[in-house]
Amino acid sequence: NTFETRKLITDEKVKNSLAVRKQNAHKGVSGKALIIGGSIPMTGAIVLTTGACLRTGAGLVTVAVPDKILLGIAQKTTEAMFYPLPQKNGEIEIIPSHFPQDKTLSAYDGIAVGPGLGRNNKHNLYDTFNDFKGNLVIDADGLYHLVDELDKWRGGREGGPTIITPHLGEMARLTGKTVEEVELQRFRISKQFAMEYKVYLVLKGPFTIITAPDGRQWVNQTGNESLAKGGTGDTLTGMILGFLLQHEYITDAICNAVYIHGKTADELVKSQDILSVTASDIIEVLPKVLHSSR
Ligand code: APR
Ligand code: MG
Repeated sequence: NTFETRKLITDEKVKNSLAVRKQNAHKGVSGKALIIGGSIPMTGAIVLTTGACLRTGAGLVTVAVPDKILLGIAQKTTEAMFYPLPQKNGEIEIIPSHFPQDKTLSAYDGIAVGPGLGRNNKHNLYDTFNDFKGNLVIDADGLYHLVDELDKWRGGREGGPTIITPHLGEMARLTGKTVEEVELQRFRISKQFAMEYKVYLVLKGPFTIITAPDGRQWVNQTGNESLAKGGTGDTLTGMILGFLLQHEYITDAICNAVYIHGKTADELVKSQDILSVTASDIIEVLPKVLHSSR
């Protein structure tokens, strides 16, 4: 029955499932990530996603951004490499010719698309990523564009798993419901969507719900209202991508990322005001919180 398929993410579950690194690891086996997004009015989102991805273990991170804003982003992401794309209307275009499967995408173990991407251009997400074999995380404006091609996504893409991370507003848009309807039936609506589109779904907010494509659900108990500030979701996306590259099971990676993300906020409000927490603070405190969660 449905009750038994819902579980709380406990300290113990996280402790027992957090990824470990092999002693003989090298950067090539620690996970190669590609993060796609950024636009002229939104340069910070991808910086946050990249920082969080590195702090959760990614071996190599490449950032695909409009060529015009590359330098500014590069100054804030020391460890990243770049995949500059021509800008159109201040944004990139996600189309198969910009991301050839054999020459480019196959080099990555995981991709996140959407932070700061913008809404001016048309994209072709399904045809670009359908064959990609690794984990694909879609967030923010990536979800905005996903709505235009939702029919194609029914049943999931062919190459590998897809993870989507909507907040209530994005979930409402994805399902054609109102925010109030989604909020009142968060479990049922998540489950229906995850099973129909064969996605791992992270419905964000207080008590974030994670749903697997088979309908299993987990509820997170960490985090607080200090997270109600722009950029905290972009940070979560980077953490999910980073953890996906480290964990054996997708649900462990996602649950652990959501839990640690919330726990950083809980840690931050012990020593700073709840109004003052920023998305960058999360990345700063993440190493200690991760360390103490083992
Ligand atoms: N209690 C606990 N957690 C919270 C709370 C709260 N009161 N408020 C927010 N959070 C957490 C959410 O669970 C989520 O992990 O903070 C994060 C907020 O994520 P987003 O809503 O995606 O915020 P943001 O980073 O600003 O998104 C950036 O993406 O969603 C689009 O429109 C958004 O363009 C913007 C961009
Ligand atoms: Mg967001």
